[in-house]
Amino acid sequence: MSTENLLSFNSFLHQSDPVPTVDKPLACVVLAAGKGTRMKSDLPKVMHEIAGRPMIGWVLNAVEALNPEKIIVVTGPDMDDLQAAIAPHDFVVQTDRLGTGHAVKTALGKLTDFNGDVLIILGDMPFITPHTLAQLCAMEGDVKILGTHLDNPTGYGRLIMRDNSANADGAVLEKIVEQADGTPEELQHNLVNTGAFCVRADLLHKYVAQIDNQNAQGEYYITDLPVIAAKDDVVTHVSLCHNPQEVIGVNSRKHLAELEAIMQDYLRDQAMDNGVTLRDPSSVYFAYDTALGRDVVIGQHVVFGPGVCVGHDVNIHPFCHLEQAKIGNQANIGPYARLRPGTVLGEKVRIGNFVELKNANLGKGAKANHLSYIGDAILGQNVNFSAGAITANYDGVNKFKTSVGDDVMVGTNVTLVAPIEIGRGAYIAAGSAITENVPEDALSVARNRPIIRDQWAAKRRKKIQDSKK
Ligand code: UD1
Ligand code: CA
Repeated sequence: MSTENLLSFNSFLHQSDPVPTVDKPLACVVLAAGKGTRMKSDLPKVMHEIAGRPMIGWVLNAVEALNPEKIIVVTGPDMDDLQAAIAPHDFVVQTDRLGTGHAVKTALGKLTDFNGDVLIILGDMPFITPHTLAQLCAMEGDVKILGTHLDNPTGYGRLIMRDNSANADGAVLEKIVEQADGTPEELQHNLVNTGAFCVRADLLHKYVAQIDNQNAQGEYYITDLPVIAAKDDVVTHVSLCHNPQEVIGVNSRKHLAELEAIMQDYLRDQAMDNGVTLRDPSSVYFAYDTALGRDVVIGQHVVFGPGVCVGHDVNIHPFCHLEQAKIGNQANIGPYARLRPGTVLGEKVRIGNFVELKNANLGKGAKANHLSYIGDAILGQNVNFSAGAITANYDGVNKFKTSVGDDVMVGTNVTLVAPIEIGRGAYIAAGSAITENVPEDALSVARNRPIIRDQWAAKRRKKIQDSKK
């Protein structure tokens, strides 16, 4: 991917202009029933993630910005996860996946009373923006399609124009030729079908009913619609998308990785533009929703899962993994820290190397600097959780809570066996396994007194040496 393309993509996504309003009533059909054979996966293709969000989530996000009256997602059977992921939007199940035309037909069952335009879009084009979709919908005409020029059009349907007017927005389309059906001459064309259509609802019902499967793949293609419309003297206009990266379709794991790389570069640029230092940008991975304050400094090899929110002046040292965590201002994290879901850190908290937190809330100034596990716990302000101290929160069946008051000193290698409460200001001696609540300001020691035998070691060494003579 050339740098020039990336830059144009970035500046496009940066665009914060309001999405143009579409004045006609709009319904949207998202095609997502495909098994994704080319992905070689048990997961529905559109559930594969880019920057921590399934492709279908990216697409729905773009479509929602247009405020359609209805969004209907075409899913396959046995796609419960997908159906859950698209809530609250409606879905239909396309039992036999006979092609994109058949998928649209299945969705139309839910649009029998709808008057307006239907926007059809593919679930595998995650980077489409609302602006481009709005431009397509706002264009004059009853049948409209979004096209783009690609340097390498292989795999895409080619747009064959009526009078070679391929560069004109609004030009009239003659037909769409799929890769599998095109003549060598047709396949030379590099103006392609992105997969987004906008069609007047009554015409869509009429034309989709006429689509057949007489083609190389034996499928019902939605791309046959322009030729069917032309027989009815209805022309198809092409709206041009000038940024090809917006409309890349993901058909393979390789495409998925390419799009992930584009999105990561975008997210890194955005972080730096907003006042975040990345010591080595290419080694930091963000999620689509990572929120970072000013003057955050992120070291090399840090990975953000979804749901992380970081305050101002936070230092995240190299090799940390964070997901669903909130980090207060001036906190210091890592190196080698793992923040799992439900971690909430107050101001100036210090989390050091090889510390794992899960469902843990640490008050202002609390510290866990080395080798700890803190799970299902609330720690007050300025608690010191020393090296090797852990919460034993799980008995093999259930999880239990640990609560530690302000200013508690938890010594090294302490095991706090939950459920347990440690009162504020208490002191827990090193090496203790604590199974009873500790009152405020008390000392709790739970370990055997050492046994000391004078000269025992020296005598043993002598005995071993004597036996070798
Ligand atoms: C399709 C278009 C092609 C276009 C390209 C853009 C057709 C025939 N071809 O090709 O012109 O250039 O997208 O990326 O439309 N789906 C269903 N039910 C089905 C079949 C597919 O819901 O029975 C869904 C898939 O889940 C997918 C989308 O439709 O999200 C597109 O299907 P895919 O097989 O990827 O089409 P392409 O071969 O990429
Ligand atoms: Ca595709």
